[in-house]
Amino acid sequence: MYNEIDLDQIDLYAGPPIEEPARQYYFMAKCREQVREFEKKNGRRPCFFTQTFGCQMNARDSEKLCGILETAGYVPAENEEADFVIYNTCTVRENANNKVYGRLGYLHKLKQKNPAMQIALCGCMMQEQKVVEKLKKSYRFVDLIFGTHNIYKFAELLAQMNESDKMVADVWQETDQIVEELPSGRMFPFKSGVNIMFGCNNFCSYCIVPYVRGRERSREPKDILREIERLAADGVTEIMLLGQNVNSYGKTLETPVTFAKLLQEVEKIDGIRRIRFMTSHPKDLSDELIDVMKHSSKVCHHLHLPLQSGSSRILQAMNRHYNKEAYLELADKVRKAVPGIAITTDIIVGFPGETEEDFLETMDVVKKVKFESAFTFIYSKRTGTPAAEMENQVPQETVKDRFDRLLKEVQAIASQKAEELTGTLQTVLIESVNDHDASMVTGKMDNNSVVHLPGTPDMIGTYVTVRLEECKGFYYYGKTAD
Ligand code: 5AD
Ligand code: SF4
Repeated sequence: MYNEIDLDQIDLYAGPPIEEPARQYYFMAKCREQVREFEKKNGRRPCFFTQTFGCQMNARDSEKLCGILETAGYVPAENEEADFVIYNTCTVRENANNKVYGRLGYLHKLKQKNPAMQIALCGCMMQEQKVVEKLKKSYRFVDLIFGTHNIYKFAELLAQMNESDKMVADVWQETDQIVEELPSGRMFPFKSGVNIMFGCNNFCSYCIVPYVRGRERSREPKDILREIERLAADGVTEIMLLGQNVNSYGKTLETPVTFAKLLQEVEKIDGIRRIRFMTSHPKDLSDELIDVMKHSSKVCHHLHLPLQSGSSRILQAMNRHYNKEAYLELADKVRKAVPGIAITTDIIVGFPGETEEDFLETMDVVKKVKFESAFTFIYSKRTGTPAAEMENQVPQETVKDRFDRLLKEVQAIASQKAEELTGTLQTVLIESVNDHDASMVTGKMDNNSVVHLPGTPDMIGTYVTVRLEECKGFYYYGKTAD
């Protein structure tokens, strides 16, 4: 998209416009001037490196940052030994924060060797006041800090950072703005994430996301569809619709639209072969959506449906608005309506007050639903959430023991389920050369399972029919079938 922008038309002497996105284009043009100055001085253009922590939303945000940097003339670097390093952070669990602090130590050393290096931190962790205070006090070598609400202002902040020798920090508490038509890079030429909404209104009692991503805001369907049409015209065939709770998409729009309706519109776009979405909240998963999934030839046979706990008592304390029976019923309904669908989930172990009986309820759901795959997490106390104030935090050894038991069960079931497909023919979208063996390629099935097969780089981005020869637990070895 950014190829269409003519930054040369922008008069930098005129001053920045007030309205968006024109304002950001002005600052992209300004950054490009700064890049030219850098080039005159150094005989090369500045290079940048972005590191994403956390979820698909953050990965998509990082692509937007890359798009702006490349529009301004920055070139991508392989690693942190770059002129400009950005960490797009996550704060969903405490260890996500710890990882960033650890990596900052490394960046500090690099900056001591190369004082001209610039460092930016953005994303969810920056929305926490105590984090920014700590950075301002003890990490003065950081050049730019911004949050999730003003990421659309990145070009402006970049220009400001380039002109300042002090730390620039700009973090907003909230926004109701969605700025469309900004450039975006893409990690893969053949697939892309597409934000359909931002923020979350659910306030699950353990979760910090609603505090750092703000209230739920949906993009207008026409903007989403236009973005996907452009992606399709550019060769993208698989899209992943992104939101914290896609099932409540469209409720706050002036003309409300359901997620199921949006999916039907996306389905009509020529060139798109696969549609994925993430994440669904069980409380909002409608029959209408199940019906669309059932009849669609493009919506993938994969549903990520976070369970969090199998205990109705704990689910209530988590503020999840469903109980064990409702979840089981829903999973059953989905499996019946869409045969062959893979249901994956997120589970938290050790929520405050979780007893052995509660934990066994979770194990029971795992055994009954037979998830194709599950992300299991140890409960992490997040300051500011209601759960952090709850008594009966579960002792660490107990949590660790439950976590190990759960993981074992989840893995045993997942590999049992995967084994059932061995020997079948599957359509695989080839995504990359295999990490360990250059004579192999790696791709994904419609149900999101990973397949490795002999192949060559020219297959990347194509759909091939593959016979699954050997199941290795959560991935397969296969061969192209002629
Ligand atoms: N502790 C552990 N896991 C958490 N998640 C969200 N908040 C926490 C927390 N405080 C998990 C949930 C969610 C996933 C993205 O992260 O399972 O679905
Ligand atoms: Fe967090 Fe719950 Fe919102 Fe998911 S739905 S982001 S777990 S508050």
